[in-house]
Amino acid sequence: MAKKTVDDLQALSGKKVLVRVDFNVPQDSHGNVTNDRRVRAAIPTIKSLLNQGAAVIAMSHLGRPKGDPAKDAPFKMDKVAEALSKHLGIKVHKANDVAGTHAVELAASLKPGDVLLLENLRFHSGEQSGCDKLALEIAKLGDVYVNDAFGTCHRKDASMVAVPKAMGSKPRVVGKLVAKELEILDTLLGSPKRPFVALLGGGKVSDKIGFIQALLKRVDRILVGGAMSYTFLKAQGKEIGASRCEGDKLDLANQLLAQGAGKIQLPVDHLVVDGLDKPETARVVAEIPSGAIGIDIGPKTRELYAQEIAKAGTVVWNGPMGKFEDEPYSHGTQAIAQAMAKAPGITVVGGGETAEAVEQFGLDTHMKHVSTGGGAFLEYVEGTPFAALAEIQDK
Ligand code: 3PG
Repeated sequence: MAKKTVDDLQALSGKKVLVRVDFNVPQDSHGNVTNDRRVRAAIPTIKSLLNQGAAVIAMSHLGRPKGDPAKDAPFKMDKVAEALSKHLGIKVHKANDVAGTHAVELAASLKPGDVLLLENLRFHSGEQSGCDKLALEIAKLGDVYVNDAFGTCHRKDASMVAVPKAMGSKPRVVGKLVAKELEILDTLLGSPKRPFVALLGGGKVSDKIGFIQALLKRVDRILVGGAMSYTFLKAQGKEIGASRCEGDKLDLANQLLAQGAGKIQLPVDHLVVDGLDKPETARVVAEIPSGAIGIDIGPKTRELYAQEIAKAGTVVWNGPMGKFEDEPYSHGTQAIAQAMAKAPGITVVGGGETAEAVEQFGLDTHMKHVSTGGGAFLEYVEGTPFAALAEIQDK
């Protein structure tokens, strides 16, 4: 997908550039940013604009506010503004509204090299409804629009679609992050080096039907882990004890197995426990006994999958292999991350939890690419057209 990028922009000195970023970062219950990967990912675009004499007006959503100011307080952008200030090494101005008097006032006073962060876009009811009036108000703040929010590209929120539309004849380009994500994913989808191996984990088969179907057409092998493997095993008539399972998706799982025609590999052993709060009962089994709960892939599966990863020309991974956030159950996910880090092929990690896991093990920099997209990553691979990208100028 050849879209104009920030590198195609000229004469930026003195201009105000609206940059839609995805600063929807993980937070603790007090609103503290627990992982600022998405903030760091936007820095190259923002710095390149500032270096050319522009002022930047950054905007993002954060969480899913419900319209109750007291409960929504942790979703204010102040802590994100602090993280952005830290990574840019300058004080970022923060507006207390989205496109109200404070935002307009601060935007008007920006000097070249300044950065303003608008308040959480989803505090305005018009953001998710794609409101044209809100879009016009935001569009008026800037001379140029940059979409650097890959993680939100599958959404039709006003800032993603209606704002670039409202920019009229002003430049509308993608940022460095979106350009990089698209380049890597287009290579993956177009001409991957073979064997092309996909690793698929996480909770539900039903969340990833389109993704699995799209992968089946492209990959040579799908290695399954995580809770979704128990639904597949149950569909094959295997005992899964009290493991998590989507009982109403067994037919679907069987259809996918049939479509996969031997491409889909399920775990050959498992780490099980007698209760989620009973790590002392953890043991490795080839077949899950009645009453036991599968919680991670076992050592033979780790070894089998590591061998496939080592032979692959391309590996794409989405979804943890077990309940990795608890150390005793993290070994499957960690072994996969280590195998990918050592692999000679092109290694791509897709979004959300998987990216967090790889970072937790300190292996993110050993991957060819760790996507900032969760849902966006899945939908792009599925082939869903993104309305947000349609609003960006072609090369
Ligand atoms: C994400 O984290 O996947 C994006 O920021 C989109 O967030 P949303 O699912 O709340 O729209």
